[in-house]
Amino acid sequence: MKVLVTGGAGFIGSHLCRRLVADGHHVTAVDNEFNGSRETVPPDAKFVFADVTDPSQVESAFATGFDAVCHLAGQVSIIRSFSDPVADLRTNVEGTLQMLQLCQRYKVPRFIYASSMTAYGDAAPVPTPETQPCLPNSYYGISKHAAERFVHTTAERSDLGFPFRATSLRMFSVFGPGQSVNNPYQGVLGIFIGKIMRGEPITIFGDGEQTRDFVYIDDIVEGWVRALSYGGGMSDVFNLGSGRSLSINQLAASAVAAFGLPPGGHPIGYQPARPGEQRAVRADITEARARLRWEPRTTFEKGLAETVRHARIEHDGSRQGAVEGAPA
Ligand SMILES: NC(=O)c1ccc[n+]([C@@H]2O[C@H](COP(=O)([O-])OP(=O)(O)OC[C@H]3O[C@@H](n4cnc5c(N)ncnc54)[C@H](O)[C@@H]3O)[C@@H](O)[C@H]2O)c1
Repeated sequence: MKVLVTGGAGFIGSHLCRRLVADGHHVTAVDNEFNGSRETVPPDAKFVFADVTDPSQVESAFATGFDAVCHLAGQVSIIRSFSDPVADLRTNVEGTLQMLQLCQRYKVPRFIYASSMTAYGDAAPVPTPETQPCLPNSYYGISKHAAERFVHTTAERSDLGFPFRATSLRMFSVFGPGQSVNNPYQGVLGIFIGKIMRGEPITIFGDGEQTRDFVYIDDIVEGWVRALSYGGGMSDVFNLGSGRSLSINQLAASAVAAFGLPPGGHPIGYQPARPGEQRAVRADITEARARLRWEPRTTFEKGLAETVRHARIEHDGSRQGAVEGAPA
């Protein structure tokens, strides 16, 4: 298959590109390197530096013809969605609409969208099934959900004139090697790992008893691959989570322990809760299990050990590089 991966230089996108290349697909990665870096795109994939909100930058890639678009380019931070809501809206909603328009112009038959558990909002019961009405409580959740609705309303149009199938994957908290440990706007586990490696105190917002469903990157990539070959409906939504939850206090304690430190061996401080938080999060993954035949296989403990191992190698490598590259 010829597959376009938007956000292909990002955390999830680069892992997906590597897997698709390994599976023998022809992969083009589009990214504006807002967060990601082209260095993470596998050499056998084509990299196009482009902004998904500007179709003129992406159109020549579409003109080469794609069998599927995996749309992962996005603004990923809840905090930034509050501090710069217009940029969040433009990237997540307008960027998705532009990709949908290009799919229509170039008759791309398959679209898979990186949706988010934040679409459910704070009132959803846990575990949360896909049938739960969405009531997002962060600007980010609103933009991810709005984009999802554009995706499915497009797939359900009767006037498209060509077969177009769309799947949204509502991912929960994805973690694993390659997640940034320096970016305060990205995943909470990467932030904690970075703080521990730099000897800085961990900050928890709120009382730390809010829960998240952490799902390992290899399982997420497997979910995307299964969605790509899924022959089901014209318009499907699936949760991709582990089906288990962990409190942020437990997460911090596990991260500290993964570095071989005793309980209390690394300072942890508390700050007031931030807007857009969900109190309890856990995926109901019955649908993905039944219809995608998907099963998350990596335990949190194993995934954490692998994430820390990789982060340490990179951290030691960059410190080494900094020393070697220091002015004489
Ligand atoms: N990581 C998670 O836990 C999680 C959970 C649910 C949904 N998602 C969604 O999955 C997708 C990928 O997330 P990630 O964790 O890999 O984050 P990421 O920031 O590593 O990846 C997003 C990529 O999109 C690129 N990008 C941003 N704006 C762009 C633009 N205008 N044009 C082109 N590229 C642009 C960034 O440079 C980055 O490489 C996002 O859409 C995110 O909303 C992530």
